[in-house]
Amino acid sequence: MNWLTNTLGTSIGKKLMMAVTGLSFIGFLTLHLAGNLSIYGGPEAFNAYAEKLHSLGPVLVAAEWILLALALVHIATGLLLFVQNLSARPQRYRVNKSGGGRTIGSATMPYTGLLILLFVIFHLANFSFVDKSHTTIFDVVSRAFADPVYVAIYIAAMVVVALHVSHGFWSLFQTLGLNHPKYMPAITVVGTILSLVFGIGFGFLPIYFSFFA
Ligand code: HEM
Repeated sequence: MNWLTNTLGTSIGKKLMMAVTGLSFIGFLTLHLAGNLSIYGGPEAFNAYAEKLHSLGPVLVAAEWILLALALVHIATGLLLFVQNLSARPQRYRVNKSGGGRTIGSATMPYTGLLILLFVIFHLANFSFVDKSHTTIFDVVSRAFADPVYVAIYIAAMVVVALHVSHGFWSLFQTLGLNHPKYMPAITVVGTILSLVFGIGFGFLPIYFSFFA
């Protein structure tokens, strides 16, 4: 446990923690989006995918606990960095000009992070912590997206996810020391493409349910 307190005690240690946990979420989102694409195969394909996932039993439960632990570390470390940054500059500059490399994504990281946390709690209440004994996962999702309010919330949340990933991806390469001037433009482009893939890939699912499913 000593290594954890030592790592979290330094600024670079905290940033490293954010980078490693953030990279794990990018992996999770990629797998989650790939799995959700089975929705386009219709109810049988999506229900079969969900059944296969749940048949993993203890492996799935272990993955869920690891994901929860990573989320707790990411949130706690993010909060520590946010407070540290605030106390490092207690007085705001009168003219808050955007500095070099500052984007909407970078300026809003703590707020988009908080919104994603609220979204995930809402999302788990919608789709994970529901009684599925007399229904199927396709019907649960289909019923939720029959409501335009849910569709709007999910689309707005995907814009927030895309914004958070767009800066997070760039930032984790900076932290891992892979910020060579030769590669950073390519990393920025890949980060933008990835955030668009997540934003559009997830964001189109509720639209598909509303109009086509
Ligand atoms: C429209 C977009 C999305 C759809 C349709 C969707 C669908 C689902 C469904 C159906 C489940 C439950 C699976 C089951 O219990 O069989 C689930 C679980 C989950 N989703 Fe999503 N999801 C979406 C976007 C997201 C996003 C953007 C995130 C993260 C920011 C996310 C995080 C999670 C998590 C953490 C779980 C729980 C995983 C587990 O316990 O195994 N989802 N999602």
